[in-house]
Amino acid sequence: MQPFVFNTVPQLICRPGSALDLAESCQRLGIRQPLLVTDPGLMAIGLVQPVQAALEAAGVPVVLYDQVREDPPEATVEAAAALGRAAAVDGVIALGGGSSMDVAKVVAALLAGSQPLQALYGVDQISGGRLPLILVPTTAGTGSEVTPVAVITTGETTKAGVSSAVLLPDVALLDADLTLGLPPRVTAMTGVDAMVHAIEAYTSKLKKNPVSDNLAREALRLLATHIRTAVSDGGNREARAAMLLGACFAGQAFANAPVAAVHALAYPLGGRYHVPHGLSNSLVLPAVLAYNMPAAEALYAELAEIVVPNTTGSVSTRAAALVEALQQLIADVGLPATLAEAGVPAADLPMLAADAMQQQRLLVNNPREVSEADALAIYRAAHGVSA
Ligand SMILES: NC(=O)c1ccc[n+]([C@@H]2O[C@H](COP(=O)([O-])OP(=O)(O)OC[C@H]3O[C@@H](n4cnc5c(N)ncnc54)[C@H](O)[C@@H]3O)[C@@H](O)[C@H]2O)c1
Ligand SMILES: [Fe+2]
Repeated sequence: MQPFVFNTVPQLICRPGSALDLAESCQRLGIRQPLLVTDPGLMAIGLVQPVQAALEAAGVPVVLYDQVREDPPEATVEAAAALGRAAAVDGVIALGGGSSMDVAKVVAALLAGSQPLQALYGVDQISGGRLPLILVPTTAGTGSEVTPVAVITTGETTKAGVSSAVLLPDVALLDADLTLGLPPRVTAMTGVDAMVHAIEAYTSKLKKNPVSDNLAREALRLLATHIRTAVSDGGNREARAAMLLGACFAGQAFANAPVAAVHALAYPLGGRYHVPHGLSNSLVLPAVLAYNMPAAEALYAELAEIVVPNTTGSVSTRAAALVEALQQLIADVGLPATLAEAGVPAADLPMLAADAMQQQRLLVNNPREVSEADALAIYRAAHGVSA
């Protein structure tokens, strides 16, 4: 067996309604006045107010930053950090999707140390620790509550990552009640993103490991079983709880066995056209899996047993059944099947292929090497017959 290292959070709390007991975690961590980081959409639907009220009723006054923008730009991080610094907060809580959690992670590091934001980008660049940190996801997708990564938008079309074990929070708190109102389209996109995390972790070339494998398999089982119900019947608590746990397991898996070409080819779609992260992944997923077949067929056949349990036949037949089942699932949850349907011009594909080559950090994890010509061929396949 390959030697491996596996890092995750010291505490996972998984219970419907647990967001109303956040004060207990604050007290345990010695947080007396946290910065609560969230977004305006969650304020508008009234998701944040009960959580804030419960904290304050338990004697933990909150400094609220509720202006996180999707795909958060540096200005969002700086503004949240400035608010926290002015109020001398002693901990950070995120309540939201990947955007709010990523902002909270970076802000917790900025407030503990003296480094400027620009010094944190890259791997293991945080030198000053972080404030106590609690992450509460409201989407079942990114798994950011258990990953050592925060993704910040640095320019018009560029994102940069801060990657450091320092960003793993003290507590990841999964309260599925918070996800009951997640709209069907966001549920579908973020759910497929989580499935991609599980699939890519399972075939990750350099750091595939038995703990991530187990988490990825269980994540895929939970997500594939429940995503249709979560999309069509958002109030279904069992489906919501399964999705939230599945996304978290997938996050733990890929935090230690990183994602690869699906994400590498998805990022340019987000950068160039602001296609949401999960949808970008969904659009290139079947074509990347087809491309990876010569190197990853046997592993895909293993995953087919989870997604399509009655599959029989040769390894190739079962691996192909996985791809077909995922295409059907993408259609069933109402997401477009091709880049053409998503409005990506065929003429842009060479530019996207060149952009994808910038993602070497991810491409090195792919089971099969991807050249720029390969990336273009994958985008053409994902675009549909017209390209
Ligand atoms: N850190 C990581 O490991 C990691 C991994 C993947 C992606 N990301 C980043 O995460 C971000 C995407 O995060 P996301 O997909 O979770 O979405 P998000 O945080 O950007 O939120 C998307 C929208 O959904 C709404 N929303 C969230 N929860 C809701 C709920 N329960 N009910 C109703 N509406 C709700 C929000 O108000 C927002 O308008 C991107 O910036 C991406 O780069 C980070
Ligand atoms: Fe992702």
